[in-house]
Amino acid sequence: MCEACKEKFFITTPMYYPSSRLHIGHAYCTVATDVMARYKRMRGADVMFLTGTDEHGQKIENKAKEAGMTPKQFVDSIVEAPKGVKDLWRLMNISYDRFVRTTDEPHVETVQKVFKAMYDKGDIYKGSYEGLYCTPCESFWTESQLVDGKCPDCGREVQPAKEEAYFFRLSKYADRIQALLETPGWLEPASRVNEMINNFIKPGLEDLCVSRTSFSWGIPVDFDPGHVVYVWVDALFSYASALGYLNSAYSDFQSCWPADYHIIGKEIVRFHTIIWPAFLMSMELPLPKHVFGHGWLNFNGDKMSKSKGNVVDPYLLAERYGVDALRFFMLRTFPFGSDGNFTNESLISCINVDLANDLGNLVSRTVAMVGKYFGGQLPLEQQEDEAKDDELITMACDLVHVYEEQMEKFAFQNALGEIFKLIGRANKYIDENEPWKLAKDEANKPRLARVLYNLLETVRICGGLLRPFMPVTAEEIMKRIGAQESDWESLGFFGTLYRDAKVENGPALFPRIDAAKELEELEALQAAQAAAAEPAPAEEEAPLPEPLPEIAFDEFQKVEMTVVKVLACENVKKSEKLLKFQLDDGSGTPRQILSGIAKFYKPEELIGKTLVAVTNLAPRKMMGQLSCGMLLSAERGDKLHLLMLDDAVPAGSRLC
Ligand code: ME8
Repeated sequence: MCEACKEKFFITTPMYYPSSRLHIGHAYCTVATDVMARYKRMRGADVMFLTGTDEHGQKIENKAKEAGMTPKQFVDSIVEAPKGVKDLWRLMNISYDRFVRTTDEPHVETVQKVFKAMYDKGDIYKGSYEGLYCTPCESFWTESQLVDGKCPDCGREVQPAKEEAYFFRLSKYADRIQALLETPGWLEPASRVNEMINNFIKPGLEDLCVSRTSFSWGIPVDFDPGHVVYVWVDALFSYASALGYLNSAYSDFQSCWPADYHIIGKEIVRFHTIIWPAFLMSMELPLPKHVFGHGWLNFNGDKMSKSKGNVVDPYLLAERYGVDALRFFMLRTFPFGSDGNFTNESLISCINVDLANDLGNLVSRTVAMVGKYFGGQLPLEQQEDEAKDDELITMACDLVHVYEEQMEKFAFQNALGEIFKLIGRANKYIDENEPWKLAKDEANKPRLARVLYNLLETVRICGGLLRPFMPVTAEEIMKRIGAQESDWESLGFFGTLYRDAKVENGPALFPRIDAAKELEELEALQAAQAAAAEPAPAEEEAPLPEPLPEIAFDEFQKVEMTVVKVLACENVKKSEKLLKFQLDDGSGTPRQILSGIAKFYKPEELIGKTLVAVTNLAPRKMMGQLSCGMLLSAERGDKLHLLMLDDAVPAGSRLC
């Protein structure tokens, strides 16, 4: 296809914060975007795959200070250094076309021009801000936006803050943004649309504070010294500055903009589907065609976070299992739009089952048989297919279509599922045809050659379609089966491999792992890494709560507080907060209570514990389930601690 006729495809990852080393959760988004970019290139598109780093803001300024560096030295140490952001993308085989850093001069130029243009237009005006600020998220919130009094994005404490600031007239664009959000397929998965409309549009969009004066590590507002541009204005415009919008470093804006897809994690959907479109509307630029908000990769059921010491190190895993296995695992195991739970067990089992047993075996058995029965090269004279070959061949010919349908929806897990159905079918085909029996009789050689040819062709098609996910393995597979080429067109045809293909033996693509032994070793290594990791910064002690007004003793006496023992405890489906308890309250009938402490305790830790419950509260329904009372807990800052008693205290005792 001639270069000029190629369809453009512009896809982006978020711009990562280089505030600490990236982990496997960050790599999840980038690998998925890379798979899509490689798939589109395989389809003949002219892909522009952009990634980069978002380097300004108070968080970085603070971290640099702690590390005794200038902010620029600090971000350089995380972006450019070994095991830094760029190094991680090299390790993960990320085929990005452009990497933008928000400290790059051309980007700074773009942001200053954008800010001025929006100001001149009247969309940015000067005022003063009094609100609730979340430092880690660098976001101001209004009271009504808080969830349980905390930052709706990260759940942490917010602080009252006041400063002179510039504001962006977000409210002006509310109707257009709502219409955009309601455009089918614009924001995917569709479940995120209601979340945006109900949580942000319906309560009314307020103007957005877009400058800061309380710190200096940011892009200066050039017409008002002392103000730096809000990090989200800065970071979002990197999608355009990296193409040369309002700067002369590149000239791809005309041909690439608007983005076909912004791929982002679920917690930054608001910035990409409300704030970003409003900025673009203000600048009278076309809007991105799609935004995809993927889920989070948790580790052993908990969000990965450096302070919890549960981040999974991609270097360790890549070294032990290979980058392709890691890339494959992430997209094979978790549906892209939902949260996924990373466990070492699931990683090892995926490698053993899918890669070693199914794919690895198919390739090695097929290649070994061509070696053993034909000296490594199939003869030209082969029998025609028999009726019993039809099912395999039809599945192989159809694969590209079902694969394409799933890939276009970012349903990576399903696309891989389709490939593995065919791999399974091919392994069965070997058992059905028993090549080892055919090989015993010279007269059966043409049939044997046909069976092996059909297997090589199936391997070629599967290997070709696996290429975006496992580029190195796919190349190796093609080499082993002697495939000259496997472009997109050829993946829809059965029979493009030369009849006399020459195969090449090699070591197991994915050696089987001794799961129990490996798990033990891996866990020990991860524990050692966590212990050696830099200590988490001491958390600021949360302020004491406001005292409550005095009450009379008889008012206090109205509250029935009973000692209870936990008989059973489980997570409430679809709720991140709630645990459901069955409690022995001494009455002989278990009492059900729902409590919002799932973030702090695992259900299994609580079984058998002795707690205190308010047992005369009117029952109420939560997530469709009845809660008869309330468990007492102590609250300080954003932490809850259940009140636990000595286990010798019998259930049913009353607190007085
Ligand atoms: O949000 N699982 O940067 P960031 C899946 N600078 N995805 C995860 C994850 C996990 N455990 N942890 C993080 C920012 N991510 C901004 C973006 S764009 C103009 C500015 C994802 O480094 C997260 O959801 O905090 C987000 O999409 C991305 O990593 C970058 O996060």
